[in-house]
Amino acid sequence: MSRPFYLTTAIYYANGAPHIGHAYEIIAADVVARFNRLIGKEVFFLTGTDEHGIKVQKTAKNKDTTPQAYVDEIAQIYKTEWAYLSITQSRFIRTTEADHYRVVERLWQQLVDQGDIYKAAYEGLYCPVREAFLTEREIKMLQDAGEDLSQFERVTEENYFFRLSKYKDQIKQFLEREEDFILPRFRRNEVLNQLEELSDISVSRSTKSVSWGIPVPNDPDQVIYVWIDALSNYLTGIGWPEDTAQVEKFWPPNVQVIGKDILRFHAIYWPAMLMAANIPLPKSLLVHGFITVSDTKISKSLGNVITPKDLVERFELPNVDPIRYYFMATTPFGQDGSYTDEDFKAKVNADLANNLGNLLNRTLNMTKKYFNGVVPAFSKDYESLILISELNPIREHYDNYRFNEAISEIMGFVDRANKHINEQEPWTLHKDGQLEKLGDVIFAILDCLRQVSILLYPVTPTLTKHIWSQLGFQVDLDQADWRWINGMLTPVGQQVQLGEPILPRLESEIVGSGGKKK
Ligand code: MSP
Repeated sequence: MSRPFYLTTAIYYANGAPHIGHAYEIIAADVVARFNRLIGKEVFFLTGTDEHGIKVQKTAKNKDTTPQAYVDEIAQIYKTEWAYLSITQSRFIRTTEADHYRVVERLWQQLVDQGDIYKAAYEGLYCPVREAFLTEREIKMLQDAGEDLSQFERVTEENYFFRLSKYKDQIKQFLEREEDFILPRFRRNEVLNQLEELSDISVSRSTKSVSWGIPVPNDPDQVIYVWIDALSNYLTGIGWPEDTAQVEKFWPPNVQVIGKDILRFHAIYWPAMLMAANIPLPKSLLVHGFITVSDTKISKSLGNVITPKDLVERFELPNVDPIRYYFMATTPFGQDGSYTDEDFKAKVNADLANNLGNLLNRTLNMTKKYFNGVVPAFSKDYESLILISELNPIREHYDNYRFNEAISEIMGFVDRANKHINEQEPWTLHKDGQLEKLGDVIFAILDCLRQVSILLYPVTPTLTKHIWSQLGFQVDLDQADWRWINGMLTPVGQQVQLGEPILPRLESEIVGSGGKKK
């Protein structure tokens, strides 16, 4: 019986194409999805675009188009990019979809009916970039840092408010009790501190200032703004409330992948909304750090935006797996990561082109040369290079989102296999006619490559599929099961398919980090 697993990412603002920071989040989520399928779970994986708000409205106007036409274009770009990155989402949700409107209206009405949403005058400093009013604490931090507060709009208007303060104690108890709700755990204190200054939040705007949003039911002068709309996507995505079978199966989410900048909304507003609506709370928020370019924030105004396609072109990559690999291997989950071209090239060359690529190539060449391209038989003395006991830490690393550590263990096997060749010298065994021993050595390495293909599949699906098919397997690696790693062996007699190197060495000459090819 497969166990259901509901996984979400943040939904991305539909005001520009995704860059490597957004890609980082969806790649991490895809690794979680693929790993969980590998260990036998039925995964529902949701991602999508957050399409309402003042920024979209303004950008559309500047481009002389309608907000709807503009978000249609951006959503399509996201879908194409996610396909390009081999993302295996089950549904791509857009907050402009009709079923989402129904969900938001229904929730809204429930909260109004029970007195959790009320109307009042509000005055505050509004940050259009974050689409939120600044909290007192943020204002104080900005003042302490000598920032000019006039960059924020002072907004006074009649708004609807969500009675967040009512849920403060309940949220506090929940966060204190559920140690694994916020992962990695070190981020929990930050949220508990923010709870101290909790006040009710404005959840609508007057149509005089913003019209691009879901209209407030029974009040055409207001639109719902913005977190109730955005956060509810996780309910719409799974078919709440009509699709009761699916809701029962998958709700609540097991893992919600988000960046550290939107933790407060997911760890405070979101649980409060669900508590108010009497809906069970998610199991965990998986909070990642920020990707920078050479330690500099990625921003359009700085002109340092890099997209996955830029990297593919810059390094003439045959597919996107080196990008998936690099981010998962180099950034410990939860920490910030700094991208540089030099680092990318060095890591990809060392691990994928040299270590793994060469292992495959030399092993298949020897299989061809010494055994006519057929997987050799092994003797009773044969020993596998990867033992069952060694798989447990890897599974634990994946299970606990320590992707970099899982990868480093797997690459350790690849090192071991390369060393095994160097020490055993198959060419000498062949020359000396020790064919039985030669068979053991080649078989051990072929089978190690088979195991590595499954182990690394969540991170580099395309690359490992190439290895898998070069090893001669017909069955699709997408169908693989974690138990195959040590529960089967490469079939003796299987014909290997020596092909192109899985990844040519990246040779591009780079000028400065984040720079262009010479
Ligand atoms: N629309 C809101 C989220 C609503 S979720 C109900 C939003 N959108 S966003 O496009 O600004 O960000 C989407 C996700 O991308 C967030 O989790 C954010 O942390 C992540 N990232 C944006 N830039 C990033 C980096 N430079 N590095 C890593 N992740 C980044 O917030």
